[in-house]
Amino acid sequence: MNERRDNGMLGTLRATLSPDIGLDLGTANTVVYERGAGVIVSEPSIVAFDARSGEVVAVGTAAKEMEGRVPGRIRVVRPLRNGTISDFKAAHVLVGTLVDRALAARPRVAPRLIASVPGCATDIECKAVEQAVRAAGARSTTYVPQAVAAAVGAGLDITRVGAQMVVDIGGGTTEIGILAQAGVIRLSSLQTGGNHLDEAIRRRLRSHLRFSVGPLTAERLKFELGYAGRAPGRADAIANGMDLDAAAPRTRGVPERLIGEAMADGIDRIVRGVVALLETAPPDVGADLLESGITLTGGGALIPGLASEIGFRTNVPTIVAPDPLTCVARGAGEILGSPTLLERLRPHADRLTRWYQSLRTGMRESYSP
Ligand SMILES: Nc1ncnc2c1ncn2[C@@H]1O[C@H](COP(=O)(O)OP(=O)(O)OP(=O)(O)O)[C@@H](O)[C@H]1O
Ligand SMILES: [Mg+2]
Repeated sequence: MNERRDNGMLGTLRATLSPDIGLDLGTANTVVYERGAGVIVSEPSIVAFDARSGEVVAVGTAAKEMEGRVPGRIRVVRPLRNGTISDFKAAHVLVGTLVDRALAARPRVAPRLIASVPGCATDIECKAVEQAVRAAGARSTTYVPQAVAAAVGAGLDITRVGAQMVVDIGGGTTEIGILAQAGVIRLSSLQTGGNHLDEAIRRRLRSHLRFSVGPLTAERLKFELGYAGRAPGRADAIANGMDLDAAAPRTRGVPERLIGEAMADGIDRIVRGVVALLETAPPDVGADLLESGITLTGGGALIPGLASEIGFRTNVPTIVAPDPLTCVARGAGEILGSPTLLERLRPHADRLTRWYQSLRTGMRESYSP
């Protein structure tokens, strides 16, 4: 107790000098949050290199604009694929640059940092992130599963005795967790997310309209016309692309239903993942969830109709968290500010890491303690 009180005073002093930072290194977006200050950086997880010299040309938003339309001498790289780091050099540049940008905005004592990396499993991956973060000036790094950070960022009190469920639908992965008493009861991670929906939209436009669009256009069509369940009935969207029959550029209307049909398989995979994890839960946990419900986070939570679809298929009331795109970073930062949560989550860390590793070897089982 005494120690706590000392920590309290020192803690306050330290907090004013040295910030607590939450980092969400996502497949689609990287978000940096500072406790007490809010989200300070949020940019696409993309890096552009000069192909010849290897020099970094752009990071984040600027690099995203180059994707799909740059001369051969520039290489645009997404360092994460399906929730795992596929390009370590680019991941290092991305984390280093964005954390550096965040810290430069408010120069202070080296921060403590907590990172959520989708399926950040192998020691090599965690080390790679840690090195980049240290190079950018942070003094310590801790890791937390996305689902846990997402739950805290969504405002759930994960120390409660009753179970709660969170589904984080990102660009490359969907992480589903059932939590209680600051611990993980069940966890599963699907390699399906918004990027796969974009790809499905591109494929469907090619096969049904003989129309080829770039990844950014496919994503925009998803924002404008995407849905789960019943079509909301919106007017066609206009898109630019290539007419495959005429082999010429063309502007044309795209109907809502075609986008919904393209997304249906991916959405079904996500919903089935939620149902499958629920089925493994003990009866008392299921009963708790009837009251506490399911909370959706991540960009995919914004798909119209998805929350009702999940609610309908699981019979568990489902809501979308406020500001779902930043939940993981905000939650990570807030965990760092709670000695109780840090203490209670620690014993799970090793087991979870081993589970993430088994995911990689193709054993896609859900985690249960
Ligand atoms: N309004 C929206 N409607 C549909 N999808 C959206 C919307 N806003 C964002 N998205 C999608 O959400 C995804 C990005 O979400 P998020 O930033 O949570 O992912 P991430 O954390 O980078 O990825 P991951 O957690 O898989 O590593 C993208 O695929 C994006 O297209
Ligand atoms: Mg994410």
